[in-house]
Amino acid sequence: MAGDLGRGRLKIEWARSHMPVLEGIRARFEREKPFEGLVLSAVLHVEAKTCALALALRAGGADVRLAAGNPLSTDDDAVAAVRDEGVETHAVRGESVAEYRQGLATLLAADPHIIVDDGADLVALAHGRAGGRGRIRGSTEETTTGVIRLRALERSGQLLFPAIDVNDADMKHLFDNRYGTGQSTLEGFLAATNLLVAGKVCVVAGYGWCGKGVAARFRGLGADVIVTEIDPVRAIEARLDGFRVLRMLDAAREADIVVTVTGSTGVVRAEHLKVLKDGCLLANSGHFDVEVSRRDLEGLAVSHRTARPNVEEYRLADGRRVYLLAEGRLVNLAAGQGHPVEIMDLSFALQALSAELLAKEGTSLAVRVHAVPPELDRAVARAALGPLGAAVDEPTREQLKYADSWEGGT
Ligand code: ADE
Repeated sequence: MAGDLGRGRLKIEWARSHMPVLEGIRARFEREKPFEGLVLSAVLHVEAKTCALALALRAGGADVRLAAGNPLSTDDDAVAAVRDEGVETHAVRGESVAEYRQGLATLLAADPHIIVDDGADLVALAHGRAGGRGRIRGSTEETTTGVIRLRALERSGQLLFPAIDVNDADMKHLFDNRYGTGQSTLEGFLAATNLLVAGKVCVVAGYGWCGKGVAARFRGLGADVIVTEIDPVRAIEARLDGFRVLRMLDAAREADIVVTVTGSTGVVRAEHLKVLKDGCLLANSGHFDVEVSRRDLEGLAVSHRTARPNVEEYRLADGRRVYLLAEGRLVNLAAGQGHPVEIMDLSFALQALSAELLAKEGTSLAVRVHAVPPELDRAVARAALGPLGAAVDEPTREQLKYADSWEGGT
C-alpha cells in the first residue's frame, strides 16, 4: 500500500528529535562529507528510525540506497517520506519473497562501495555474484544472526571484504538486544493479541542478550517466565536470575506463550507442538522466520484462519488451537514498531561511525570480521550520557596512577 507522505515526514521528524547521538554525527557528516562520491547500499528494516540513519549518511555525501530487511517490517509512510527526500528505496510492507530478493539484487547492481546489512543477506548475495568484491570497501552488520554468517564465511576462507561486527559492540548488544528487543517484543505481542501477560506462563527460548531482555520484560508484566537454552552457562545464568530453566519439551506443556529469540532454527517443532495447551501463542523475535517451524504447524493442522491481524489460528486434529503471531517473523517489527527510538539512536550511531571507518580505511583493512574500535563505542557512550540522564566522574590523577600500578591496599 502506498504510504502517506505527511505521516511519514512526521514519523521521521519524531524519530530524529529523539536521536540526539545520530543527529550529532549527522551534523559533523554534513560538514566533513566523509562519503562523498560513494554508493552505500543498506538492507535494513525500513521504518522511521532507519530513515533517520539513511538521511544522516546522505548528509555525509553518500548516494544511499535502501532495501527492506524483512518483508513485514517496512513502514510505507516512512518509505514515502524518505523517497521524497531522494533516497532510492526498495521496500513495501508485505512484499513477496521475490520482491524482497529483487530489492537486494537492485542494491547490489548499484555497485556499492559500502554495505550496511542486517542479517547478512546482501553480503551473502555479493559473495554469490560473478566479479567478487567489486569496489566494495566493506560491510557493517547489525545482528547476531548476520555475524554468525559472516564468521562462517571468514572460517571457510571465503570472505571477500572486511566486515565490521556492530552487533557485538557494547553500545549495541547491551542495549539494542536487551532493552530494545525486550520492550519491542512485548509491544508487538500486546499489539497483536490485546491479551493479559500477568499470570501467564511465558517460555522464552534463548538466553542471549535478546532473551535476557524478553524474559525480564515479560516477568515485569507479571508472567511466570520459563527459559529454555542449549548452552549450559546461559542456562545457569537464567536460573540464577530467578527463572525456571527447562527443556523445551517440558516447558511447552506449561506454556501459554512461547517467544523464540535464539538465532537458530526449528526451536519449536512437531514434538513440541504436539504437547502445547489449547490456545498457546507462539511468537518469534529472532531475525529469521525459522525458529517456529511453520511447516510442522501446517502439517499438524486440520484448518487454519486469520483470527486477528498478525494472529494465525491453527486448529489441530484433537481440537486444540495454536496461534502463530506475525507468521513467525519478527513480532516486534511486524506487529510492533520496532525498537524504541532512543535505543536505535545508539545502534545507528555505531552503524554510521562504522560506515565512516569503511569509507576512510576500508581499502586498507584486512579482509576479516573486525570489532568496532573501542574508541567509537566509547564516543557513542559519551554522547549518550547527557540525553539518557547519566553523568560520569573524571578519574583523579591518583586513580589513574592506581589503575596503572600492580600495588593493592594494605
Ligand atoms: N528499527 C530499525 N531497525 C531495527 C532493528 N534492527 N530492530 C528493531 N527495530 C528496528
